[in-house]
Amino acid sequence: MSSCQFGSVDLRLLSPPHSHGPQRYSPDWLTEARLLRSDVLYSNGQRPEFGFGGQYHLDQDEARDTASHHVVALVDGKIVGCCRLLELGSTAPTSVLDEVIGTNQLDRGLEILGVNRTQSLEASRLCVAPDYRRYNIARILMATVFVVGTWLTAPIIVAAMGTRDKQDRLVQRIGGASLPATNPVYNEGLADHVRPMYLRSTNPPNTMLAMIDGAKDAFALADHGFPF
Ligand SMILES: CC(C)(COP(=O)(O)OP(=O)(O)OC[C@H]1O[C@@H](n2cnc3c(N)ncnc32)[C@H](O)[C@@H]1OP(=O)(O)O)[C@@H](O)C(=O)NCCC(=O)NCCS
Repeated sequence: MSSCQFGSVDLRLLSPPHSHGPQRYSPDWLTEARLLRSDVLYSNGQRPEFGFGGQYHLDQDEARDTASHHVVALVDGKIVGCCRLLELGSTAPTSVLDEVIGTNQLDRGLEILGVNRTQSLEASRLCVAPDYRRYNIARILMATVFVVGTWLTAPIIVAAMGTRDKQDRLVQRIGGASLPATNPVYNEGLADHVRPMYLRSTNPPNTMLAMIDGAKDAFALADHGFPF
């Protein structure tokens, strides 16, 4: 349980669905999270491809979803926010950034940061239901990124952040910066200029520490030797 200005938010960390069964296994929580993502990304027509009849309707991003760790934020048992974390070193599918900027550019950015794929995670699909926005739920979800990154010994977290609604600012405010040697690129499906960014998972800002402690408790990871 984590507190925000909304009240009590229950946080869950779900392991990659493909570690539990066949590749196409889709548990109920994933179906619920995808519905939320699809609605949020459709955004009343802002990204038409996520709407009914669109290429990404219901956001069935199977390969990435089954290989990723997922965090869901629940209020009264309902998923109101989510994000997912993909280990870039897994043999699995390519990340969003591989698709958006290309593998060479992603690898180059990581190299400049002094890491390789096995030391990196990608955070993606950070979504909060419209009625639950501006209560810090996105911040709570971003706090979990530091926790999961450190738990999985991945010092670097990358993310392709939207810019139209200034989503990149959320990451910048918690210590994130542009991935070296990259620039924002326009992505058709997301209908936005997407900014490749990174965060250092072992170096959270002080302003995030209380939320991070809440996430460690929620995930029962408090005894995992965190440096913060
Ligand atoms: C981007 C998104 C995840 C943010 O979710 P959120 O829960 O509203 O975010 P937070 O409440 O943690 O913070 C959002 C802002 O509200 C502010 N805020 C928080 N509580 C507030 C309050 N009580 N009153 C006023 N502002 C408040 C925060 O300071 C922050 O402001 P800032 O952007 O100027 O820093 C959400 O808008 C969303 O799902 N958007 C669509 C999908 C998307 O673009 N996802 C990002 C992937 S690139």
